[in-house]
Amino acid sequence: MSLDKKYDLIAMDITSNCNLRCPFCLNDYSQIKGNTFITDELFNKAMQLLPLTHDGLFFISCLFEPTIHTEFINFLEKIPLEYRKKVFFTTNLAKKLSDETLERLSCIKLHHINISLDSLNAELFEKLRKGAKLKVFIDNLERLTSHFSKNPDAPEIRYLTLVFKSNLKEIPELVEKCATQYLSSLHNIRPVWKVKTNADWLAEEYINANELEILKKQLAQFSYTYSVGPLHNENAFLHEKNYTYIVPPTAIRISSNGRVEFLEREVFINLNDIKEPYNFFKDMLSFLELDLSRANELQKMLKRVNDFSHPTTQPQHLSTFNFFRGKIRDNLLMGKVHKIINYMKK
Ligand SMILES: C[S@@+](CC[C@H](N)C(=O)[O-])C[C@H]1O[C@@H](n2cnc3c(N)ncnc32)[C@H](O)[C@@H]1O
Ligand code: SF4
Repeated sequence: MSLDKKYDLIAMDITSNCNLRCPFCLNDYSQIKGNTFITDELFNKAMQLLPLTHDGLFFISCLFEPTIHTEFINFLEKIPLEYRKKVFFTTNLAKKLSDETLERLSCIKLHHINISLDSLNAELFEKLRKGAKLKVFIDNLERLTSHFSKNPDAPEIRYLTLVFKSNLKEIPELVEKCATQYLSSLHNIRPVWKVKTNADWLAEEYINANELEILKKQLAQFSYTYSVGPLHNENAFLHEKNYTYIVPPTAIRISSNGRVEFLEREVFINLNDIKEPYNFFKDMLSFLELDLSRANELQKMLKRVNDFSHPTTQPQHLSTFNFFRGKIRDNLLMGKVHKIINYMKK
């Protein structure tokens, strides 16, 4: 294993619920009950993994809202100073935050903070961010940027705007406002991803390729720093012939109850069961690297086989690989990983 091998990302949640119910959200709230706040012990275990990923790629929030944890700011301050550059979080900024919290946030030395913002029109904002009030959001944002502007070491502020039909025209103005008034260092613009739970709501909100191109041309006239993501190709999940076989990332997601998922590999463990998290997850990198190099070889081979477009046409000798949703996964190797995990738990 190369010495500098790291996880592509480590995503963690410190809560398991949200204060809002956005109609486009990736979460299926009919299946989510209660809210598990991460414990001190689990948080400390997760912090052992900080050296195992790159700067700006350790998420303190992934699927849920971090600011609703009652110890939110205290937990951020527990992150060892030398690793704070690894960390960022994303927030809806909908819960009123005190000046004291905002001041402490400005001194926290994280890589960046990400603010979700899709509209500054009160009616649309409150329709998209269901449960939030624009007034509270703006009050938080103005006080946050005021504290941050007084501290040259304050974290970068980035914005994440989802693209819908209803906010499409407002986006250039949003990017300009965030850059000129709200300290934006990078504005990520992301066409919303379709999932089962939001498909009905998105039927009238999903933009087409032409609309995205027009938006890109408008933004190209700006000198602000921004990025525009691709349209989410929901067809890849519906029509297997459109699959492009990709090598999965080396990434994990840690839930607030300690459940850890190796993304795209369907390998799950619980961080509570791991006695030495740093050593365990470092060792797992060697397995994943092996999987990665085999998957890369396989991908090259698949590219050479033109008519290989459907999982059921897999040549027999490739049958230890699983082509689940277009992802190459080595079942044999992952089976060994399961055995090792069970052994480590004993
Ligand atoms: C799941 S949220 C969790 C953090 C926080 N609650 C928030 O919304 O900022 C993380 C990011 O995913 C975005 N997001 C939510 N639903 C999405 C979807 N269907 N497609 C793409 N991004 C989505 C949110 O706007 C947010 O920027
Ligand atoms: S604020 Fe974030 S996590 Fe909460 S419902 Fe909206 S998108 Fe989902």
